[in-house]
Amino acid sequence: MSRASLSVVSDAVTVRVPAKVNLYLGVGPLRDDGYHDLVTVFQALSLYDDVRLSPATELRVATTGEGATDVPADGTNLAALAVTEVARRAGRTPKVAIDVTKRIPVAGGMAGGSADAAGALVGADKLWGLELERPELSEIAAGLGSDVPFALHGGTALGTGRGEQLMPILARGQFHWVLAMSKSGLSTPAVYRELDRLRESRSDSDIVVERPDALMAALTSGDPSVVAPLLRNDLQPAALSLQPALRRTLRAGVDAGALNGIVSGSGPTCVFLCADEASAVDVAAELSGAGVARAVRTANGPVPGARVVTE
Ligand code: C5P
Repeated sequence: MSRASLSVVSDAVTVRVPAKVNLYLGVGPLRDDGYHDLVTVFQALSLYDDVRLSPATELRVATTGEGATDVPADGTNLAALAVTEVARRAGRTPKVAIDVTKRIPVAGGMAGGSADAAGALVGADKLWGLELERPELSEIAAGLGSDVPFALHGGTALGTGRGEQLMPILARGQFHWVLAMSKSGLSTPAVYRELDRLRESRSDSDIVVERPDALMAALTSGDPSVVAPLLRNDLQPAALSLQPALRRTLRAGVDAGALNGIVSGSGPTCVFLCADEASAVDVAAELSGAGVARAVRTANGPVPGARVVTE
């Protein structure tokens, strides 16, 4: 008898999945396949989407919460694609209702769609008692999107390739962040295209991506004031070019007392590293009052990746 058939099949499963921030995002030249080689440092933050899977007569997905109306409810939804792929590999039909409670901003540069895909993967595996091994889950995740493996993995990690090849990084203690959500989203492919346009005059050999060795050492020290000046995002000029108002947001966060601020991934969410939790609360209050963001949140990291919270 297979291991799967020995396992208990649950009635419903809820998986909690974190947002990510890129502490470092080095972007290489455009590849022939339309992607860019990356060297990135991810950190998972305590801002979570909840993905609930339950048996149903057919595959459906419903989203509530932060930006829910901007999330597709059809077969192009990444969580639905994740369930469909797990079902295909398990030789099942994907008769599952997926209910997503969103807190991670949609099109915000914090991998919210990838988080939901990772949650759906872990949820389908649990719901159907498959007990897929980590390498297989990671392989399916990478097929769904470059940031999906990190949403599974969590913590702090070095990402290479498209961002899907991960190596854990030792980060001591907790870092305290303030997140400023923008009034409108940015499309990730559009931001990469804008970066390529800004780099038009440079030849590929001029675009060198360095390993963030100093940042990795700083993370091991656990001292946010050492980490802060080493934050870097090659996509930031492209995000600022598409949403110039973000310059004011970044300035407002530093003026409010953050150690440093950068655009998260492809943006437009701006993230601010603070000295400690009390400072993060102060910075968040001041940023809220400055009217430069749609919403302001505090979060800490690193936190674990996708995990089942109820059965
Ligand atoms: O992998 P994912 O589907 O999340 O990527 C979305 C888009 O972001 C890609 O189609 C590509 O335009 C861009 N991208 C990239 N290089 C990467 C990751 C994403 O150009 N390493």
